[in-house]
Amino acid sequence: MNGPSPLSLNEHFAIPGQLTFVARAGGLPLAELRTPDATAQVALQGAQVLAFHPQGSAPVLFLSRRAIYAPATAIRGGIPLCWPWFGPHPTDPTKPQHGFVRTAAWSVLASGLREDGAVWLRLELTDSPTTRALWPYPFRLTLTVTVSRALRVELEVHNPGDAPLACTEALHTYYHVGSVTATAVQGLEGVAYADKVDDGRRKYQAGPVTVAGETDRVYLDAPPACVIDDAQLQRRIHVTTAGSHSTVIWNPWVEKGRQMRDFGADEYAHMLCVEVGNALDNQVVVAPGDTHQLLLTTWVEPVA
Ligand code: BG6
Repeated sequence: MNGPSPLSLNEHFAIPGQLTFVARAGGLPLAELRTPDATAQVALQGAQVLAFHPQGSAPVLFLSRRAIYAPATAIRGGIPLCWPWFGPHPTDPTKPQHGFVRTAAWSVLASGLREDGAVWLRLELTDSPTTRALWPYPFRLTLTVTVSRALRVELEVHNPGDAPLACTEALHTYYHVGSVTATAVQGLEGVAYADKVDDGRRKYQAGPVTVAGETDRVYLDAPPACVIDDAQLQRRIHVTTAGSHSTVIWNPWVEKGRQMRDFGADEYAHMLCVEVGNALDNQVVVAPGDTHQLLLTTWVEPVA
């Protein structure tokens, strides 16, 4: 196992009944967060939220039954963090897809309770010889996960160096849906998108987004809220953001899903990625000494 053991993490950061660290299969340390309203799990590898489960509702996040839990390996599901580039590296295809922080070992910085009973955990990652070999800049990232009736995930990107940091990024959220073909995303009507399954052609969204085949779209200058309307689970998942100008919608569908070694053949039907962040034309530049914030808040509204 990389980094401190669950035992020593519990000594420093556990909150009785609300936050505890455990080791998962593969030895990856995991934080379990609990309130009367919801539970969540966060892997220290990648600062990746793996589960969010409000009381009385089905799990909100999709996590593949074939996900691989191993050091330096991306976990299929939950909320991987793509940074400092989204998708393939812009000039060097040998560098990892979606950047390098989703597979890095993050440190625990702090934990606590809010006055309203929400529990939170803050993780940190800074540059190292390994990251500088892939991206030659100093950085400090913190990711704070707060669990209440809603899940709040806040990324802060601090530039401690003396050159501007240009980055693209995403909180690559995999939502669990009853049936993807009976699900619509509302709030992107009229927004321009790059269609990655059609050579990146620019198009405009007509009506709500529905999925009936491989779908991989980057919506640009997207509004800060959308809703995943799931007719089968009879619920609406609200997605709101700050600091995000791109929304990515992704479902691999049948063929691409089969090619993924960590994805079950039928799982495409029960997931939909709705990712908030900044990609393509919406690249972010963090000036020396500045901090950029990317915030996601998501919660479930049951529909009778
Ligand atoms: C999406 C991209 O965000 O992530 C897709 O738009 C990509 O193009 C998908 O296939 C999954 O990426 P990965 O590296 O986790 O398999």
